[in-house]
Amino acid sequence: MIIARTIAQLQEAKNTLNGSIGFVPTMGALHQGHLSLIQQARKENDAVIVSVFVNPTQFLEGEDLDAYPRKEEADAKICELAGVDILFMPTIDQMYESDELCIGAPAVRGYILEGEKRPGHFDGMLQVVMKLLNLSSATRAYFGKKDAQQLALITQMVRNYFMDVQIVPCEIVRDERGLALSSRNVYMSEEEKERALALSRSLKRATKMVVSGELDVEAIKIQMLKVLEETDRVEYVAIVDRSFRPLKKVEIGNTIILVAAWVGKPRLIDNIWI
Ligand code: PAF
Repeated sequence: MIIARTIAQLQEAKNTLNGSIGFVPTMGALHQGHLSLIQQARKENDAVIVSVFVNPTQFLEGEDLDAYPRKEEADAKICELAGVDILFMPTIDQMYESDELCIGAPAVRGYILEGEKRPGHFDGMLQVVMKLLNLSSATRAYFGKKDAQQLALITQMVRNYFMDVQIVPCEIVRDERGLALSSRNVYMSEEEKERALALSRSLKRATKMVVSGELDVEAIKIQMLKVLEETDRVEYVAIVDRSFRPLKKVEIGNTIILVAAWVGKPRLIDNIWI
């Protein structure tokens, strides 16, 4: 595995690759969820590039940019064992100039739910993903469904800018109890992790209601909020279509049910696609 820390090193390393490239962008502190993306990329492509870059432009003032878990050595080991060809770990000055052209998230979809709670977050996320997709020359790029709104916006960016890359949505990976894996889970105590299970339980309750014929969004949300009382604070429960338009009735095959809530230090998100 080649570790590239500069754009020049990345370009040189890419010259050693042949065939299709699968790309997995990450912010590091890799866990089983990232590993499943890497494994899928490995299966579907001739070569795999992973990036580890804690992107400052997608963190808002007062968020956990400085405290964000950084585990470079362990990340490199995981990538090596997973058969990654190139691990790209750039510094901030490799990625950004002081006066940059900016990409903006779309006015509606970029500023609801996560975008409303974290205004500007998606602008920074799209900016870095555009850079990373261009730098990697990826044939396919792999993103988890856990960040469903991120995934929808990246898919839209690729469509709107006619970018020649296939975005591959990947299933959410959970621990044995149902907690969706996240690098921020390390901030929680065992007791908090137990309470954090309320997120996946609320989604299970919603799914059960849908399976038993209840399609009314408000009725489902009321039941979900009851389950979510175990969390410290619920930020939102939303039921939208796959383009992130709010729904009144669940449309089977075209619905995402999302939840965001605080448990202890981290703010957690989870969702289910129905
Ligand atoms: O999902 C993430 O880890 C980040 O938002 C991404 C896509 C790597 C961009 O920094």
